[in-house]
Amino acid sequence: MSRVIVPALTLAAALSIGLIAVAAAHPQAEALPRARLGDLMTNLIQPRHTKLGLGGQAHNWQYAAYEWSELNAAFKTVETRVPRYHDVAMTDWLQMVRPPMEELAAAIKAKDAAQFDAAYSHLTDGCNACHQSTDHAVIVIQSPSAAMFPDQNFAPRTQ
Ligand code: HEC
Repeated sequence: MSRVIVPALTLAAALSIGLIAVAAAHPQAEALPRARLGDLMTNLIQPRHTKLGLGGQAHNWQYAAYEWSELNAAFKTVETRVPRYHDVAMTDWLQMVRPPMEELAAAIKAKDAAQFDAAYSHLTDGCNACHQSTDHAVIVIQSPSAAMFPDQNFAPRTQ
């Protein structure tokens, strides 16, 4: 081999070992690139907030419990994919929705419609409080007033 090719191959090998080492050290970062918060809100948080509200309105507690854990997991995804926003840790921003999420969990467990309605409205207030604190007061969330998922039946199963 020529004197030029050998160092070039050595360099290429060293680089690829380096890249493999970097990928192995950050497997999660590789699998989950950072995401845009607006996309996560629209695709994960908003539909789950809507469906949780519709399930509660239908007094479908089994479904509400399911959708509550989906929304809870969606908040965790937001925290992982967007760890900081406006120089504040996402986990700190999300304190605005944690107490109402706990309130909702208790209401669902107790199958208490009035408690659910109050907790759901506190959650919605939490969404809006964060939008206001992050200079997005233009985004106003409310309780769903009509079924926005016409292909899904939110009524409890009878059997
Ligand atoms: C971190 C605090 C925070 C919390 C808590 C929060 N949001 Fe957001 N949300 C934002 C920010 C910031 C944006 C704008 C992101 C961007 O576009 O960069 C946003 C955007 C949105 C959007 C996109 C608006 C549009 O029309 O495209 C929706 C919908 C939304 N949020 C719904 C909700 C709902 C529903 C909740 C509560 C269940 C909630 N958000 C809780 C911070 C928050």
